[in-house]
Amino acid sequence: MDKQTSSWFTVQNVPENYIFPEEDRPGSLPIPICDTIPVISLGKSTSTEKVQEIMEACRKFRLFHVTDHGVPEAVIIDTMKALQDFFELPEDERAKIPSEGGCVYTSSSRFAKDGVHLWRDCLKHPCHPLEQCIHFWPEKPTEYRDSIAKYVGEIRKMSLKILELISIGLGLKAWYLGEISEVQILTANNYPACPDPSLTLGLLRHCDPSLITILYQGDIRGLQIVKDGQWIGVEALPNAFVVILGNQLEIISNGKLRSTEHRAVTNPSEARRSIATLVNPSPNCIVEPAEVLVDDLNPSLYEPTLYKDFVLHSRGFGAFTKSIQSYIKSET
Ligand code: OGA
Ligand code: NI
Repeated sequence: MDKQTSSWFTVQNVPENYIFPEEDRPGSLPIPICDTIPVISLGKSTSTEKVQEIMEACRKFRLFHVTDHGVPEAVIIDTMKALQDFFELPEDERAKIPSEGGCVYTSSSRFAKDGVHLWRDCLKHPCHPLEQCIHFWPEKPTEYRDSIAKYVGEIRKMSLKILELISIGLGLKAWYLGEISEVQILTANNYPACPDPSLTLGLLRHCDPSLITILYQGDIRGLQIVKDGQWIGVEALPNAFVVILGNQLEIISNGKLRSTEHRAVTNPSEARRSIATLVNPSPNCIVEPAEVLVDDLNPSLYEPTLYKDFVLHSRGFGAFTKSIQSYIKSET
């Protein structure tokens, strides 16, 4: 049988068990693409204006685009090619990937939340420390490990620049967030074209359990965020990354910055691939509001929690949890 005709998504109509309840599904009213989400050039990384721009973006939108990020275009192209080749392997090849060392491949047909399937296949694995996890990554396509290892190294450099800007913006030492962070988990998402995107979701509404998440989504739209109680679409800018604020940054900032509620919708004409890299606190970091952000007028809003306890006991992040938990167990 041809691999296309044997896939779960080659259907004329959306199967019943992929249709979300009305309150969760995107519906057929158009959701506007927001063209005022800031695009921050990381070129000169610590100027005062840059810090202000970033903080304004974080406060208003809880997310922003970055350009002049220093990640070579060739690294991005190779990464997206490796993902494409991976997701074009026959389903039974992908299903063979051993769930070891936190590497988890989830076919849409095998994962349902409250009985409803996401319109997405996904691969997650740890990426730090590289030498302890790379041998768990897929062996096929053959270029996967090399390309993704380079990508992760570049994302580390970029995330440190961004965390420095946010640290300064919050009034913390420039190294504050960088020092407790590591590029930990990578999620590769494949959202096939869908016969009726109004009924389905690639990813349900969620916040990431990270400090920040760095998303590359190519030039196909699908990411949406909640702004002032309404869904708005995020533009897909070629060669730019999207930075999403996670709930660990919300805690450290004592609520000055809030995590971004987001979801991924599907489209009727082409497969969309994205790669989300979670920059997390290290497992033994006690995550709590930074001391300088707590005083009589600003009491601490969050209890100190060891990051590994947060992850090991958290129920809310279904899809992330298995990979991060396994990473954390192997580290400690
Ligand atoms: C994620 C995520 C959004 C997207 O992987 O956590 O939110 O557009 N992805 O794929
Ligand atoms: Ni997310």
